[in-house]
Amino acid sequence: MEPIIKVNNSTYYLGVNDRQTRFFENLWPIPHGMAYNSYLIKDEKNVLLDTVDITYTDRFLRQLRAALAGEKLDYIVINHMEPDHSGSLALILSHYPEATLVVNRQSKKMLEGYFGEVEHVLEVSEKETLPIGSRELRFITAPMVHWPEVMFTYDPLEETLFSADAFGSYGTVDGGIFDYQRSDTEHQMNECTRYYSNIVGMYGPFVQKVMKKAETLPIKQICSLHGSIWQERIPEILRLYDQLAAYGSEPGLVLVYATMYGHLSELADTIAHAAGRAGVTPVKVYNLASQDVSYAISDIFRYSGVIIGSPTYNNSLYPKIEELLSKLEMRKVSPRFYGHFGTGSWNPNVAGKLTDFGERMKWTTVADPVTMLMSMAGDKEAEGVRLGEAMAKAILSGTPEIAK
Ligand code: FEO
Repeated sequence: MEPIIKVNNSTYYLGVNDRQTRFFENLWPIPHGMAYNSYLIKDEKNVLLDTVDITYTDRFLRQLRAALAGEKLDYIVINHMEPDHSGSLALILSHYPEATLVVNRQSKKMLEGYFGEVEHVLEVSEKETLPIGSRELRFITAPMVHWPEVMFTYDPLEETLFSADAFGSYGTVDGGIFDYQRSDTEHQMNECTRYYSNIVGMYGPFVQKVMKKAETLPIKQICSLHGSIWQERIPEILRLYDQLAAYGSEPGLVLVYATMYGHLSELADTIAHAAGRAGVTPVKVYNLASQDVSYAISDIFRYSGVIIGSPTYNNSLYPKIEELLSKLEMRKVSPRFYGHFGTGSWNPNVAGKLTDFGERMKWTTVADPVTMLMSMAGDKEAEGVRLGEAMAKAILSGTPEIAK
């Protein structure tokens, strides 16, 4: 068995890497796998913080035994009841039946729902602390980040925040558990943004509220349930969360479309190139017929300009574009600069639907839509260039505001 990894003087890392699952929540692609993190604080009382997905119970149990080194497990704190973190709980309790589960009012109900009656349960609130020897653990409720029962646990001795799903990312933890052990910072931040926008994205106001509560705490380490432990890059990850939770944006264009036979690709490229020539960077282009919506949503959370294109399909929007629109509406990503384009052979019928979508989102429309029939015949190239340039002008002029 490999040596147990220490997070600080008194905390051990007990996470596992999942390199088998292809879709997180059976929905979102994870080509770089997923880490389920758990932690053990050792003091006069030993405290386990969350567990892991049930698939990995054996490996997790071996690590827990090694870290405890024959000592008793006194408490298991449940920061989040979602099964990627509580899945191993029943099996762990069968090995450590004397452990007391530390829950809040909401997680207690969920605990009973998933596992029936559990023997040793201690219900805590934000006002209470848990003395474990040389420190008293504190609790910060974080409802809807990402489920209603979520809480953070704070260790004042090590100045460590255990932040449940918050600040987590897709991807396994490779080589080292700390942020400074990774050289792929940009990839890491992109996967954090994708995870946030896919999983927690519709709860921005709740995230803002809990960040306000946590901002007064001295924090040396942030231990999320997914991804690396934040230490050197705490300012960057807090800045990123500030922006994401407020639906803020930075200059850049995301052009998302889909095409059945490739004709709309020519118009998409015309628009994207015109925006690029006019000075916009980055310009990110997604064809949802071949790329997953997860990545497009992530970039729409990040950048200030969005252009959407769709073929007409069954007299309506192309299904993959409908899926995008519904996911964006659910997540209330606004404000953004907006434009759209479409095609429809004999009966193009998407412009009205895309206009309605922009109005519901309160996005600022920068130019008239471009609609083509079978090909780029006529003045479609010039119209596409006009849309790209109008978008560039808006993006370069400042940040979008909620449209009236
Ligand atoms: Fe990682 Fe909301 O579970």
